[in-house]
Amino acid sequence: MPTAVITGASQGLGRAMARALAGRGWSLIVDARHADQLTTAVTGLTAVTAIPGDVTDPAHRAAIGAAIGPAGRLDLLMNNASRLGPSPQPALRSYPLAELGHVYETDVLAPLALFQVLAGPLTAAGGTVVNVSSDAATDAYPGWGGYGSAKAALDQLTAILGAEEPGLRCYAFDPGDMRTAMHQHAFPGEDISDRPEPEVAAAALLRLLVQRPSSGRYRASDYPETEAGLPPAAPQAPAAPQTPAAPQTPAAPQSQHSPAVAR
Ligand SMILES: NC(=O)c1ccc[n+]([C@@H]2O[C@H](COP(=O)([O-])OP(=O)(O)OC[C@H]3O[C@@H](n4cnc5c(N)ncnc54)[C@H](OP(=O)(O)O)[C@@H]3O)[C@@H](O)[C@H]2O)c1
Repeated sequence: MPTAVITGASQGLGRAMARALAGRGWSLIVDARHADQLTTAVTGLTAVTAIPGDVTDPAHRAAIGAAIGPAGRLDLLMNNASRLGPSPQPALRSYPLAELGHVYETDVLAPLALFQVLAGPLTAAGGTVVNVSSDAATDAYPGWGGYGSAKAALDQLTAILGAEEPGLRCYAFDPGDMRTAMHQHAFPGEDISDRPEPEVAAAALLRLLVQRPSSGRYRASDYPETEAGLPPAAPQAPAAPQTPAAPQTPAAPQSQHSPAVAR
């Protein structure tokens, strides 16, 4: 039974991915800070270990590592938990530096630290690291300097991890706009009902995991739904013959929204 660690699995993309993988027979270790919401999110799923806690807490990360054990195997680490920062987001000239530190702790340091804890089991399985990114990592949206620069750092960290760890697949995954609590936090008071549900991005990530391209940065829009629908998410499926190192699918526009409403 393949095993995944998913951070931030109580709602949004993390919950959608947990449900998708659990439905395909994966064993899961999941977290989020609010234990009650995490418990509710995984109710009814089998083979799920919920470990409430904050990814910035070393003791919490150690507890996740202990749940796998030093001799264990881990097929997927999905660093999904994230901190946006203030809402509304301030311009850099007035960005509170203490808060910027918290954003970097959550969005940059914690994903690397969790990888360091889990590197042994990931290597044993020839596993995959998914660090969830954003188009704010690559596009200069006014007001997105804190979160965006943190995701840019996470992207580069992921790229170098991919170069240093040839036995693993290391992906920065940009899910695109999603109708979630974080997105609403980013656009306070706005109607975000036109954004896709996170299940759309989760389905794209499943397709990426099955196709298993080279380490790199991928967008959900690189893996659109096909007529064949969703494949099973096998962790070590050999690359399909038609699978190139980079997706063949023509890159769709990253967002249906103007830059003013992308994140
Ligand atoms: N929504 C978008 O449009 C969008 C676009 C691009 C990229 N993204 C990225 O996609 C990922 C998922 O975002 P989302 O929109 O699905 O978020 P979300 O719905 O707000 O869910 C965030 C999850 O992370 C958990 N979390 C937050 N901080 C945590 C911490 N310090 N430790 C442990 N868990 C923590 C939350 O639970 P607790 O609050 O209980 O901890 C929750 O389960 C993030 O990396 C985000 O940057 C989102």
